[in-house]
Amino acid sequence: NNNMELVCVKDFERQAFAKLEKNTLDYYKSGAGEQFTLEQNRAAFRRLRLRPRILRNVSQLDISCRILDEQLKWPMGIAPSAMQKMAHPDGEIGNARAAGKAGAIYILSTLSNTSLEDVAAAAPNTCKWFQLYIYKERHLTEQLVRRVERAGFKALVLTVDAPVFGNRRADVRNKFSLPDHLNLANFEGELANVTTMGGSGIYEYVTNQFDPSITWQDISWLKQLTSLPIVLKGVLTAEDAVLAREFGVDGIIVSNHGARQLDSVPASIEALPEVAKAVGNDMLVMFDGGIMEGNDIFKAIALGAKVVFLGRPALYALAHNGQQGVEEMLEILRKDFETTMALMGCPSFEDITPAMVVHEKTFMK
Ligand code: FNR
Repeated sequence: NNNMELVCVKDFERQAFAKLEKNTLDYYKSGAGEQFTLEQNRAAFRRLRLRPRILRNVSQLDISCRILDEQLKWPMGIAPSAMQKMAHPDGEIGNARAAGKAGAIYILSTLSNTSLEDVAAAAPNTCKWFQLYIYKERHLTEQLVRRVERAGFKALVLTVDAPVFGNRRADVRNKFSLPDHLNLANFEGELANVTTMGGSGIYEYVTNQFDPSITWQDISWLKQLTSLPIVLKGVLTAEDAVLAREFGVDGIIVSNHGARQLDSVPASIEALPEVAKAVGNDMLVMFDGGIMEGNDIFKAIALGAKVVFLGRPALYALAHNGQQGVEEMLEILRKDFETTMALMGCPSFEDITPAMVVHEKTFMK
C-alpha cells in the first residue's frame, strides 16, 4: 500500500523494492560474493545490547557536533553511492539538498549522474565532501581534484577498498548498464558511459579505468596535490588505521563498502572497536555499513565513531519520493536517534560510555 505512513527506514526500503526495476534494484541492494558480509552488517548490530542509565535529566539533548571544521546538527552523513539518478530524477541534487536541510554531510561519488559543479551550485549550503577514485590516467584524477576544490567541496574521501571491483553476481547476470538517458556526468566521451560488454558494465568500467596499483605512496601524492583534508574510506583493521595515521590523513571511515567489495570481511560494526582503540584518540574515526535505526547510530558512536553515514537508505528514500523522501527519512532517523539518546540517559555525547554497548554473549551462559 503506497499511502501507508512511513515510520522507519525499513518502510522506505520496502517502497523502493516495490518500485525500482530489476537492473537498478539489484545494483543498489546487492553485496559481493555470496553476500555473507551483507547479512552480517545488519546481524552484527542485533548482537549488541544496550545498557541504559536512568534518572539523568534528558530534558535537553545536544546531538550537534563539529567535524572537520563544519557544524552539523547531528553526527550524520550520506555516503557516496554511484549513479543516484537511477533511483529518481532528483538524483544527487535531491540527496545533497536533503542532507543540507537535515544538517548532515553529503559525500558525492566520482561516479555520479550529476556533475560535481551542478551539485555544488544546487546545494550551496550543504556541507559537501567528494569521494575520489584514482584513474589509471592520473591527469584525470588531478583535473577532478582541481574542479572539486574550485566547486567548494570541503574534503576528499579516497575510497581504498576498491583497487579492483567486487564481484556482484546479480550485476553480471543482469549485464548491468546505465539507462540510455543517464551518464557519468563528471566525464566526457567513453569515460561517461557505462554499457555492458557482456558482463556487468560497471565492473567492466572500473576494471578498465581505475588504477589497481595504488599504494600508501599515493596518499603522499594526493597530499602534495591538494590542501583539502583527506579521508580514507574502507579501513577495516587496526594495522591500516595506524598506517593512515602515519601517512597523515585527516580521517578514516570504517567501512566494508556496504559489503560490496570483499565478502567474508567482518561487519563494519565488528571492525569499528579495534580501529577506534588503535587511533580513535588521535584521528577522526567515522563509520558506515548497515545503519537503519537510531540505536545503530548510538552503538557506532559508543564504539568509537564520531559520524555515521547512510548508503542504501538514502537511495531507497530517494526512490520512494525524491528529495522529499530523503528529507522525511532523515527526519525520522534523527528523531529515533534522539529517543535512543534520551532512553539511554545520555543528554550529550560525553555521557556515552563503552560499557553501554555490550555483545549479546555477555548475557548468555
Ligand atoms: C556504494 N558505495 C560506494 N562507495 C564509494 O566509495 N564510491 C561509490 O561510488 C559507491 N557506490 C555505491 C553504490 C551503491 C548502490 C551502494 C549501495 C554503495 C558504498 C557506500 O559509500 C557505503 O560504504 C555503503 O553503502 C554503506 O552501507 P549501507 O548504509 O548501504 O549499509
